[in-house]
Amino acid sequence: MEMPCGLEAKMTTTYSVGYLVGSLSSTSINRRLATALKRLAASHNLELVEIPIAPLPFYSADFDANYPAEARDFKTAIEAVDAVLLVTPEYNRSVPGVLKNALDIASRPWGENSFAGKPSAVIGTSIGAIGTAVAQQHLRSILSFLASPEMAQPEAYLQTTDGLITDDGEITNEGTAEFLGSWLAAFHTHIAKSLAPVS
Ligand code: FNR
Repeated sequence: MEMPCGLEAKMTTTYSVGYLVGSLSSTSINRRLATALKRLAASHNLELVEIPIAPLPFYSADFDANYPAEARDFKTAIEAVDAVLLVTPEYNRSVPGVLKNALDIASRPWGENSFAGKPSAVIGTSIGAIGTAVAQQHLRSILSFLASPEMAQPEAYLQTTDGLITDDGEITNEGTAEFLGSWLAAFHTHIAKSLAPVS
């Protein structure tokens, strides 16, 4: 089968991916998951770099006249990468406020939405059995409004168990490591397709 124009080359391209961790906890299991993904990413032609959300102020419409430096830097960082990955816990069956705030900042000022056309994916881990499924659903809805082509499939809902991922991102369960590897491979394909020129 012939690939659409430019797509074949893009399948072997290394893409830069900015990741946002939706937790400020110093012992965050989602940060551990992000570190594990970062370690696996190189084998899938993805280069993961964190875009920190902790320094961001709370969004106010007052910013639109003159965006604070931290917010501007955050938008610039998102615009500079090929794709964005959101690694998040679920808080009260939704998106943690710190992450929603970061997305709101990226979306403004009006007409300068940093997510427009930017491929994205969501993933998360929880101690609960549904592994952040509801938070991810809410995120998909937000990303859709932000005109970010987000990866619909495969979904990844990870229930954390003791020792599943070490502090330095080593995955101790072979099946989980394989699954996350295949998920990253799918994300690479999603980015390549999203960025392929329309002929
Ligand atoms: C939680 N937790 C949680 N878990 C879940 O599966 N669904 C939920 O709705 C919630 N709600 C929730 C609200 C708040 C305010 C907190 C602090 C926690 C538990 C959560 O999964 C657990 O604390 C994780 O360890 C959070 O991820 P990080 O911060 O360790 O990455």
